[in-house]
Amino acid sequence: MTEHTADVVVLGGGSGGYAAALRAAELGKSVILIEKDKLGGTCLHRGCIPTKALLHAAEVADHVRTAASVGVTATLSGIDPAGVTAYRDGIVAKKHKGLQGLIAARGIEVVAGEGRLTAGRAVAVGDDLYRGTDVILATGSYSRTLPGLQIGGRVLTSEGALALDVIPEHVIILGGGVIGVEFASVWRSFGAEVTIVEALDHLVPNEDIAVSKALERAFRKRGIAARLGARFAAVTQTDAGVAVSLEDGTSLDADYLLVAVGRGPASTGLGFEEAGVTLDRGFVTVDERLRTTADHVWAVGDIVPGLQLAHRGFAQGIFVAEQLAGLSPVAVPESTIPRVTYSSPEVASVGLTEAQAREVHGEAVVAYEYNLAGNGKSEIIGTAGIVKVVRQQDGPILGVHLVGDRVGELITEGQLAVGWEAHPDDLAPFIHAHPTQSEALGEAFLALAGKPLHAL
Ligand code: NAI
Repeated sequence: MTEHTADVVVLGGGSGGYAAALRAAELGKSVILIEKDKLGGTCLHRGCIPTKALLHAAEVADHVRTAASVGVTATLSGIDPAGVTAYRDGIVAKKHKGLQGLIAARGIEVVAGEGRLTAGRAVAVGDDLYRGTDVILATGSYSRTLPGLQIGGRVLTSEGALALDVIPEHVIILGGGVIGVEFASVWRSFGAEVTIVEALDHLVPNEDIAVSKALERAFRKRGIAARLGARFAAVTQTDAGVAVSLEDGTSLDADYLLVAVGRGPASTGLGFEEAGVTLDRGFVTVDERLRTTADHVWAVGDIVPGLQLAHRGFAQGIFVAEQLAGLSPVAVPESTIPRVTYSSPEVASVGLTEAQAREVHGEAVVAYEYNLAGNGKSEIIGTAGIVKVVRQQDGPILGVHLVGDRVGELITEGQLAVGWEAHPDDLAPFIHAHPTQSEALGEAFLALAGKPLHAL
């Protein structure tokens, strides 16, 4: 074996891994980054970026379809799947090129191949061994399925759904979480009949109940069917379609079944446990500094239990790199990471739901809900939705929850409020530009401070 050494060896070039590599290099470390596929990982190639491009194409289709409501004459004559794919791929290619340039400019050595952790802070790739003073594991996640539910043919994961070159006429989506509702939104906008099957009682069940209900209302209005509290039993497929049976004895037919029941950690067969890294149900066990149980081996991103989000991966990668460079960064707090689901309407949240706040503070919780019907800009762009702010009684804001088109862009204000433990009284004096959707947040803060303007 040929041995190579560096200060930092990063296994996995997705959001967490490449952020760690970039920051470590910026701080003067020599870095080797090992990637078996393409730099950028799931988010850039199979997740965030291509799906948000799809959602944008879907939004354009909806705008054309509803143009007459604002006096613009337009006809939606169809969706060109190849054109949508070309647009989407163009965005991904541009971002990929930019990332490769950045990695090269920082002097990071990229090794193409599948790495396997070995004892002694090293990663083997074929006949080469890359030994680091420190090793960062960032191998990401994969689409999970259910026991006995075989992916293939007309049964797809999100990767397969992205690769489809047709628009299904009818699609069933198993799982009403983030991936499920985003694809439901896209396909509905493209003209498909969509049925979501969700085992729990609500769509996006991790969100505040008011948010789930608002999204369910909006989806009903869009003609997206949801079978809530329904559990999958079996699927059969033919050349023409799928038949999905549910545990309640009913069955559904469609062209395709999308399985979106969560993502599992990509940690199998990579030598982790043999090298002394403890796993818990496949996730890498870390302490609050993201140290694994193997000396000088760290982990970031989706293999670390918690929110599986690219921006969390970035933050964790930067955090570990800064520690390795001898800085004293603050640990990445899970509680102030914003969550955005880019369906139409969007869902955005940060901090505690009302139910979670009540688990912590009992009755000493106040929640205020402002309906976007009272917000001029939301009326203008034709979106319905809510702003819900949860605070501790006479205390700080604990959670902010939004539903409505474009609200993903508003969550940063909620994040600052929650992160800085602001009281509504602190925020009430800050005026919001009129007419913006952000005014809805301002109204909620004013109301919680006891001085509602347009609200009762
Ligand atoms: P998820 O955990 O968000 O949702 C999975 C859903 O499937 C849950 O609601 C669950 O109750 C349901 N489910 C599980 N077993 C079922 C069964 N047998 N029958 C019916 N329903 C069942 O996972 P998802 O949507 O696959 O996303 C994976 C990860 O990717 C998430 O952690 C998410 O945060 C991340 N992601 C984030 C995006 C964003 O930030 N916009 C976009 C896409 C993915």
